[in-house]
Amino acid sequence: MKKAIFLLSVTLVAVWGCQAPDCDRPDCGTCGNACCSLSFHFDGMTSEAAYNKIMMGLKNGGADGRYRYIGGDDLRPYNISASFILQGVHTTLVHHYNDTLNFVLTDDMKPSIHPLGTTLRAFSISQIAGAYCDDGQNYKNLVGFVKGLNMKYMETTVAGCPKPT
Ligand SMILES: *[C@@H]1O[C@H](CO)[C@@H](O)[C@H](O)[C@H]1NC(C)=O
Ligand SMILES: *[C@@H]1O[C@H](CO)[C@@H](O)[C@H](O)[C@H]1NC(C)=O
Repeated sequence: MKKAIFLLSVTLVAVWGCQAPDCDRPDCGTCGNACCSLSFHFDGMTSEAAYNKIMMGLKNGGADGRYRYIGGDDLRPYNISASFILQGVHTTLVHHYNDTLNFVLTDDMKPSIHPLGTTLRAFSISQIAGAYCDDGQNYKNLVGFVKGLNMKYMETTVAGCPKPT
């Protein structure tokens, strides 16, 4: 029995096969399925400029050519705390697993908390049923995408995908 479980977990790692770098932040079941929630602050940038870069990034396939744009909206007319919202999908190289990516941008109005700029709340979740652990793919989906935007950022962990101890 123990051997069977071991073999199963080895198989799952081989199947997920997160492609290095940035595979060192695996998540197990934080959102029922594996997920990762991060926050990125972009200093001195408007939410509109960040929105356009993120949208183009998703439409162009992102850092590895396997991101897709699903939709996005300008929330500024609604006078709520968020300015823009977007959704994308990342597909893994092996087995074409899809992970849903959700993004929301807020403008930072309080320089005491952050320098002026925009903050991106970024979330990734495995779509397939039974993805309890993700081999680090959800963290990689987010950080790999943001690195590909070539914007200077400050990263904070919100939930899941814990830092290696
Ligand atoms: C927008 O919301 C803020 C805070 O909730 C409020 O003070 C302001 O009057 C609102 N502006 C408009 C145009 O509704
Ligand atoms: C991922 O999404 C693509 C496009 O919608 C679909 O063709 C593919 O079957 C999905 N992969 C899985 C494992 O469901």
